[in-house]
Amino acid sequence: MALAFIAIILGLAHLLTAKPLDCEPLVPETIDNTTMTKLLGKWFYHAGASQHPRTIQELELIKNAYYFLYPSSHQDTFLVTEVMRLKDNCVVNNSSYISVIRDNSTMTLHGPNESSVAQLIKSSSGDTMTLYHIDGTHRGLSVSARAQNLSTEQLEEFKTQVACLGLKEEETFYASDKDLCPMEEERDDKKHSVEVVEPPLG
Ligand SMILES: *[C@@H]1O[C@H](CO)[C@@H](O)[C@H](O)[C@H]1NC(C)=O
Ligand SMILES: *[C@@H]1O[C@H](CO)[C@@H](O)[C@H](O)[C@H]1NC(C)=O
Ligand SMILES: *[C@@H]1O[C@H](CO)[C@@H](O)[C@H](O)[C@H]1NC(C)=O
Ligand SMILES: *[C@@H]1O[C@H](CO)[C@@H](O)[C@H](O)[C@H]1NC(C)=O
Ligand SMILES: *[C@@H]1O[C@H](CO)[C@@H](O)[C@H](O)[C@H]1NC(C)=O
Ligand SMILES: *[C@@H]1O[C@H](CO)[C@@H](O)[C@H](O)[C@H]1NC(C)=O
Repeated sequence: MALAFIAIILGLAHLLTAKPLDCEPLVPETIDNTTMTKLLGKWFYHAGASQHPRTIQELELIKNAYYFLYPSSHQDTFLVTEVMRLKDNCVVNNSSYISVIRDNSTMTLHGPNESSVAQLIKSSSGDTMTLYHIDGTHRGLSVSARAQNLSTEQLEEFKTQVACLGLKEEETFYASDKDLCPMEEERDDKKHSVEVVEPPLG
């Protein structure tokens, strides 16, 4: 009996200590000219987690998404085109831009009516973009990648970071890599689309 009891206690102790041991602080990515160039081009959104009720609502709607960052005539500013499947609808949004503050690795997505702030986080793979979203006291994390699917390691890294931030599984949403929306469909006027289809990849 005593042995079993000790075994249970040890087992519990192991469970209780296992999670915090894996936690490493999120480290902001250094943003220099090289980083800026590396951010250009096409990214697939893969997962997002948030404590903010409104963001959770938005994340729930996103079936999948990809987006392009383009250089703009202003320094440290990217133009953005997002192609999203929201429920069953394809939505192309090119009405936003991102301004970057290098000093604190901050990227702000400006929409016509609102903006959201995130910090670019160092990730162990160069092919992912991890953003730590700060919205008052609410925290959030999202991961995008060059590839249409995440590797197991990339997925595990994201899950660990989410758990370490104290975000719950029900606050975490994963994109499907199926049924991506075409970009061309909503771009029947060819003015912009010709030059933006394949921007230089970093
Ligand atoms: C970074 O790029 C800007 C403009 O593109 C340029 O003025 C600046 O000299 C570059 N800095 C370095 C360290 O190369
Ligand atoms: C980043 O720096 C800018 C300019 O110094 C400041 O306005 C902004 O609040 C900072 N953002 C964060 C998240 O620290
Ligand atoms: C486009 O994206 C911006 C930034 O996220 C958002 O504010 C705006 O509402 C979006 N526009 C449409 C039409 O979805
Ligand atoms: C921005 O706000 C204006 C005025 O309230 C509204 O007409 C417009 O639809 C909004 N745009 C987006 C993208 O939400
Ligand atoms: C993505 O999925 C394909 C097919 O399922 C697989 O061959 C490829 O290795 C995956 N890529 C990554 C980065 O895991
Ligand atoms: C944005 O998309 C709309 C609708 O697809 C298109 O009419 C417009 O030309 C695009 N603007 C830019 C700057 O890409």
